[in-house]
Amino acid sequence: MAEHSSRAADVLVIGGGIIGCSIAWRLAQAGMKVTVLDRAEPGGEASSAAGGMLAPLGEMLEPRTFSELCVASRNLYPRFAAEIEESSGHHAGYRSDGSLMVALDEKIERELGEIQRVQTAQGYSLDPLTPGEIQGRGADLSPHVRGGLFIPEDHWVDNERLMRALLIACQRAGVRLEAGCAVHKFNLTGDRIDSVVEENDTRYTAKTYVLAAGCWSGKIAEGLGIKVPVAPCCGQMMEFEVERELPFVVRSGMHYLVPRPGRRLLVGATSEHTGFEKTVTANGLLSLMEGAVRIAPMVGKALFLRAWAGLRPDTVDHLPILGYGEIENLTFATGHFRNGILLAPVTAEIIADLIVKGFTSRPIEVYRPTRFK
Ligand code: GLY
Repeated sequence: MAEHSSRAADVLVIGGGIIGCSIAWRLAQAGMKVTVLDRAEPGGEASSAAGGMLAPLGEMLEPRTFSELCVASRNLYPRFAAEIEESSGHHAGYRSDGSLMVALDEKIERELGEIQRVQTAQGYSLDPLTPGEIQGRGADLSPHVRGGLFIPEDHWVDNERLMRALLIACQRAGVRLEAGCAVHKFNLTGDRIDSVVEENDTRYTAKTYVLAAGCWSGKIAEGLGIKVPVAPCCGQMMEFEVERELPFVVRSGMHYLVPRPGRRLLVGATSEHTGFEKTVTANGLLSLMEGAVRIAPMVGKALFLRAWAGLRPDTVDHLPILGYGEIENLTFATGHFRNGILLAPVTAEIIADLIVKGFTSRPIEVYRPTRFK
């Protein structure tokens, strides 16, 4: 077995997606020696496959503490993205132009009314728009739109750009990024991890470990004899080149349209619990196309560029898993389901605080890994 004492780190992060790398970057900024192991290419899974909506408002996220965590992370985004840009010298693709939720049928119209009522009472600002006002916003949407809610405080980010910039920021901060390193064994003494061994038999040691391996976290935790109920939820996506750039994100029901530079438009997303296969299917594409054209008929004339699928890490209660559990020197940062891009800044803050200071000021009791017992 190869052992790399030079690779002994203060913290070993398992999983090089946006969550793992954001944590690693914050820890390195705090002066720690950090290694990130990724089973394939860092940033190559859900972090790149996502749409990049930073949109906690307009959704009835339960419980209330979860919606507060999402709003807190969205509030951290402007600074988070600016710091990544400063550290990497690369654009992070962050935008704060708001999002529009539209109703094309009575059911969604009622849902939007309820969302507006509840979230306005909580002090958030959501602007109800008539069909005429929506057409006046220059988004080229269907004439059948019955009304909508514009949410000025919803933000969005080009997550592929952000991830590339974050990886550079990590490297510049001294984080060691190891690609093609799938963890397959843990060496334990009592309730502490001594080292992890990756597939090619290289052993890595650290004082503290972070499990941030998205939908693979459950499989990895089996090696510790711990049950972590994280399952993949496949989301298929499509990309088009449109004639005129959409001015903001538009959502209706399960479908969303996300603008990208260069008149590109992402269309998302399916939600399928079909295992670890990332399959693009005819039915998936059909459902995306139907939804997109229903919202904006101009998508029917757009140039098709590509389609792909990513795996969201879903948990049994759909809430993330954060903090320490049974293993003394292992903290969890996984199970972010549909909100991994959104929750990266707050997760990095929480986990870095737990490791560096020994506590977090955020209420994380509901996200503890031990809740599944
Ligand atoms: N956050 C959007 C999705 O998971 O499809």
